[in-house]
Amino acid sequence: MSKTWFITGATRGIGFEIVKAALARGDKVVATGRDFARTAQALESLPAAQADRLLAAPLDVSIAVQAQAAADAAVSRFGRIDVLVNNAGFGQLGLFEELEAAAIERQFATNVFGLMHVTRTVLPVMRRQRAGHVFNLSSIGGVQGFNGASVYCASKFAVEGYSESLALEVAAFGIGVTLVEPGFFRTDFLDDRSVRYGSMKLEDYAPASAELQDTYSAYSHRQAGDPTRLAAALVRLAHEAQPPLHFAAGSDAVCGILSVLDARRAEIEQWRSLSESTDFPPQAVGTT
Ligand SMILES: NC(=O)c1ccc[n+]([C@@H]2O[C@H](COP(=O)([O-])OP(=O)(O)OC[C@H]3O[C@@H](n4cnc5c(N)ncnc54)[C@H](OP(=O)(O)O)[C@@H]3O)[C@@H](O)[C@H]2O)c1
Repeated sequence: MSKTWFITGATRGIGFEIVKAALARGDKVVATGRDFARTAQALESLPAAQADRLLAAPLDVSIAVQAQAAADAAVSRFGRIDVLVNNAGFGQLGLFEELEAAAIERQFATNVFGLMHVTRTVLPVMRRQRAGHVFNLSSIGGVQGFNGASVYCASKFAVEGYSESLALEVAAFGIGVTLVEPGFFRTDFLDDRSVRYGSMKLEDYAPASAELQDTYSAYSHRQAGDPTRLAAALVRLAHEAQPPLHFAAGSDAVCGILSVLDARRAEIEQWRSLSESTDFPPQAVGTT
């Protein structure tokens, strides 16, 4: 059966690939982007035959009021929203002490609060339908900390905790949630058009800061992950009866997340008796 998608950050990268994959599957798509002219321009490259199944809507996810107008436009055009993809996001990289407070706030305004604004707007539609699915773009950086990515990882760890909890609250209404945890994918993510680094340069950090930026820049547009294949995988999951709560995307994510889980288990076992010693002692039966 055909589904109606609502996708944020659809101008390029993973978001745009999901738009293409969903349309190719025969689904309907509401493609949103913060720059409406660029969103419309990106969509012009799609086959004209798909135009009646596609709606472009302006949406900067960091501006809460824009989400309602976009969701209203979606329902008015297609009558429902089956799949929400909270994809819009960027990487605020850089060593923590070199980041301005405003940069930290901007990261959370898009990656965390923006995702929540859009979800709050779309959930009532899905609750009325008693059906729907939410894909939240997290990252391998939502499971594992990375050097030079404290704020980005903090935003994605927030998305993880939020999504796991939300899944428990909305399951009763037939709404599912999937955390998508990509490794490194070949998009503009590490390109100057997207990534940001710290602007407060500190001498102590100069070598580490330069090395970090050089390493990530050298990897830009050479990442192993193919966004077209990721989009196809998400379209397949959306049509599964029971999509997973977590979906690791890319062999680097699979390997990295499995290592994190193994290391976490080993660490807990190593300190198990000290950890368990912090409970109150069990009370003997009959004592007060
Ligand atoms: N590529 C990776 O290696 C990777 C790995 C893990 C997770 N992810 C996550 O995947 C998602 C997509 O990233 P990508 O790789 O496709 O990066 P990308 O090529 O840089 O595309 C990012 C998209 O997000 C949009 N965006 C950013 N801020 C926005 C805002 N406030 N409101 C609306 N749209 C906004 C951008 O719009 P504009 O065109 O207007 O800038 C663009 O369409 C992000 O959440 C990212 O954290 C990516």
